[in-house]
Amino acid sequence: MSAVLITGGSEGIGLELAKLYAAAGNELILCARDRIKLHDAKHEVQKLYHVRCETISLDLSERNAAKTLYEQVKDRHIDTLINNAGIGFTGKSWEIPLEAEETMVRLNDEALLGLTKLFLNDFIQRGEGTIVNVASTGAFQPGPYIAGYYASKAFVLNYTKALAEETKDTGVHVCCLCPGPVDTYFYMKSGGKKPRFIMSAEKTARIAYEKIRKGRTVIVPGWINNLVRWLPLSVRIAYVKRSKLKSLKKKTKR
Ligand SMILES: NC(=O)c1ccc[n+]([C@@H]2O[C@H](COP(=O)([O-])OP(=O)(O)OC[C@H]3O[C@@H](n4cnc5c(N)ncnc54)[C@H](OP(=O)(O)O)[C@@H]3O)[C@@H](O)[C@H]2O)c1
Repeated sequence: MSAVLITGGSEGIGLELAKLYAAAGNELILCARDRIKLHDAKHEVQKLYHVRCETISLDLSERNAAKTLYEQVKDRHIDTLINNAGIGFTGKSWEIPLEAEETMVRLNDEALLGLTKLFLNDFIQRGEGTIVNVASTGAFQPGPYIAGYYASKAFVLNYTKALAEETKDTGVHVCCLCPGPVDTYFYMKSGGKKPRFIMSAEKTARIAYEKIRKGRTVIVPGWINNLVRWLPLSVRIAYVKRSKLKSLKKKTKR
């Protein structure tokens, strides 16, 4: 039986994707740090869908984490890798601690790069497999007051688009999921404020799942997110700058 490996599969978008793959009969391997959240996610999925679900507690921002994870699962028949684990920080770039953003880059980019390369090699040899790299609509533009995060996601988008070209006609599908704002704990953790237009993680995952199955390369869930993408770059930068600055001012007033 083939399995789907989902990093950051214990909550949010990752967990909702896990449920959809489980509903279709796939075995799951969920990776995140918090053992309790992983345990709860496993129980939720298994109660609903009765599929095999393994959990791996690992900090993917640690050096060589991609190799460590790969070594643990390489003997399982994984046919889909979803590089979903990610974090971000909102604030004045000179005030966000260097260590925090270094950790972010190791998780959002380095671990994703490592896992993609390790699994892609196997998938190419087998002539099948799917890799889904989770970026953000922030990947399409610079993001004042969320600069490092948007830049880390621009790496994910461009890297994945290039791989999608390289893997054409190999039987391997490489794609990039770029959600707009999604209602998860991400905002609380990143120090940002939830925007007015926000999509549920369940809906985001449902749209993503359908488009992954259709073989799309860049997936932007929701018509508003797609529309915004085509506004002039200067307008989008100004909007992000204004809204992030507004939420930072509100935070310092409290
Ligand atoms: N929410 C949004 O508005 C939004 C928009 C666009 C893109 N995205 C992207 O979508 C992805 C999922 O976000 P989400 O909103 O679902 O976030 P979330 O609810 O905060 O979930 C993040 C997941 O990643 C795991 N994780 C975090 N740090 C990790 C680490 N060092 N090692 C291993 N696992 C780690 C978390 O578990 P542990 O903390 O237990 O490790 C959790 O399972 C991220 O890449 C994010 O950048 C989110």
